[in-house]
Amino acid sequence: MVIFKNERDIIRYLNTKKVDKAVIGFVPTMGALHAGHRSLVEKAREDCDIVVCSIFINPTQFNDKSDFEKYPVSEAEDISMLMEAGCDVLFLPAVAEIYPKGTESRLSVNFGELDAVLEGAFRPGHFRGVAQVVSRLLDIIGPDKLYLGQKDFQQCMVIRKLLEQENRTAPIQLVICPTLREPDGLAMSSRNLRLTEPQRALAGILYQCLVSIQSKQGIDPFEKVERECMDLLRDKGFQPDYVALADARDLTLLKEYDEGRPMVALIAAKIGEVRLIDNLLLNPVGEPVLA
Ligand code: PAJ
Repeated sequence: MVIFKNERDIIRYLNTKKVDKAVIGFVPTMGALHAGHRSLVEKAREDCDIVVCSIFINPTQFNDKSDFEKYPVSEAEDISMLMEAGCDVLFLPAVAEIYPKGTESRLSVNFGELDAVLEGAFRPGHFRGVAQVVSRLLDIIGPDKLYLGQKDFQQCMVIRKLLEQENRTAPIQLVICPTLREPDGLAMSSRNLRLTEPQRALAGILYQCLVSIQSKQGIDPFEKVERECMDLLRDKGFQPDYVALADARDLTLLKEYDEGRPMVALIAAKIGEVRLIDNLLLNPVGEPVLA
């Protein structure tokens, strides 16, 4: 695996591969890698000639300063995992490399409601920061395929909008990969490392809530299920931000189950200092809604 820290060198290297028509797959991350990240790299390995991964803790997407400061870092372990998973190129830039003219965004993408609901409402500016860094990374790497995890469902939709609205010379194919979970259902996340043992023991409850939303479709009204989930989370010491049901194609919020649409249940809750999010597609009807 080759590691690059600056833009000029990685561009020059990838250009030598592009003249040979190599298919380039890109997996952007913020490090503290786990099996979920690894599954994205492995999928890219299956599909592409050259697999590029980036590790960059992007300051512009953290609306909470302490979340940024406490974001876990495990560079040596990350490098070994990427080598094992078959990554060819690792991009490890410093903040000044990504934002040489400062962190102010010049991005003019219209996200519509996507940026205003759910995570957008609870983390103002978060998705603008995500789109800003992903746009910059895509300019540098110029991949054919971009690999993202369904774990961050709304992020996938925001990036899909970004790809639709930016005029790129070569189209980039978005590949959405399934969420990897711990045995108790907790979605793998770098932030799980910050949970204390008792918090970790409770955290599987988010997934249980999602499963109950799925299983109560056609039995109870969503409003009742939502209330039960919020109460359960509070009883267990969580501070839930939302338990929501939405159209999986555009994230239109739904007050009631609607079997005519592909639906996704989404949840966000804080336990102590750590904020966790998760989601579950309720009725995968053949076609992947996000692809
Ligand atoms: P990060 O949280 O490091 O996640 C990198 C990628 O891994 C994202 O596409 C995310 O959805 C995926 N991922 C995380 N947990 C997963 C799991 N349990 N199963 C499958 N995939 C999982 O998301 C970001 O970084 C940043 O916002 C980024 C896109 C890199 C922009 O800074």
